Amino acid sequence: APRILSGMQPTHDSLHLGNYLGAQVNWVRMQADFDAFFCVVDQHALTVGPEPEELRRRTRVTAAQYIAGGVDPEKSTVFVQSHVPEHSQLAWVLNCITGYGEAARMTQFKDKSGKRGAEGTNVGLFTYPMLMAADILLYDTSVVPVGEDQRQHLELTRDLAGRFNARYGDTFRIPEAHIPGETAKIMSLQEPTAKMSKSADNQAGNLMMLDEPKVNTKKVKSAVTDTDNAVRFDAEAKPGIANLLRIHAALSGDSIETLVERYAGENKYGALKGDVAELVIQVQAPFKARVDELIGDPAELDRVLAAGAERAREVAAATLARAYDAVGFLPGA
Ligand code: TYM
Repeated sequence: APRILSGMQPTHDSLHLGNYLGAQVNWVRMQADFDAFFCVVDQHALTVGPEPEELRRRTRVTAAQYIAGGVDPEKSTVFVQSHVPEHSQLAWVLNCITGYGEAARMTQFKDKSGKRGAEGTNVGLFTYPMLMAADILLYDTSVVPVGEDQRQHLELTRDLAGRFNARYGDTFRIPEAHIPGETAKIMSLQEPTAKMSKSADNQAGNLMMLDEPKVNTKKVKSAVTDTDNAVRFDAEAKPGIANLLRIHAALSGDSIETLVERYAGENKYGALKGDVAELVIQVQAPFKARVDELIGDPAELDRVLAAGAERAREVAAATLARAYDAVGFLPGA
């Protein structure tokens, strides 16, 4: 079967609803038809300087959330990036075919380094996209299910694969991004023109999958909307309502048109919010319960991850050997 690969950074104790709807729902849908690899990208998370104990905890809890959200480790390969050294090995090779200016133009790098300033910005943040390209190219990946914010990184990955193949001979498969239309950019509830983001200043805009239901209910009920008082879908003029409609549609399976009809008339913002809160709780309550169960048995979780790493390494080692040979590294012992 053709392969998919995707990953999330273990930078926080909980995923947010954007990670879940923008990426994970598609991972789970696609794992039936693809040979799927889901990586917890702990090396990427190291770029923000976590405490070692935090990184350990978050790496496990992120893996647990993959599984709680429906990734089946019997069908799909669930693994931790640092367990497969081929990722950093290939990243070095890719660094050497990436232009400095090309890397400097990555908008995520510009955002993050802009916030931190030159002194606070480490080189890992700069080479981040080439490590991500390595994650993808090592598995001869056909499709990469991600949210909208990863589009530019995917374009770079495709450029690097094409450039490598042109210079050194056909080595890498050129991957496609799979970016779902309606859920590719879930917005902050407090600032509905900005994406829901783990690093946002205002955490009140984020629905965290592992928060207590009452916390999320409160966040949904205080979501920023507008004063126009009519439920219509207009992402430009009414970004808050559009975001709530998209979240509702994604969780309930109802179409946006159906929902706009249902909440037609005056003073229906409260009803819409109440229903969205209810739908969020319906997914997150069992999700959280399953995560608690998985985290309660870290030895079993570590066994799943070790088995995943073993399977991932088989594939990754073969691709890396091809790439090493292509660039002219001598065969090792
Ligand atoms: P990360 O950890 O920031 O996010 C994980 C996934 O969630 C998606 N996402 C969103 N989708 C919709 N609305 C939002 N508000 C939202 N916020 C986040 C992201 O697009 C992503 O799919 N660089 C990646 C991790 C990575 C990776 C990879 C992904 C490393 N190597 C290889 C795919 C393939 C990142 O920082 O994702």
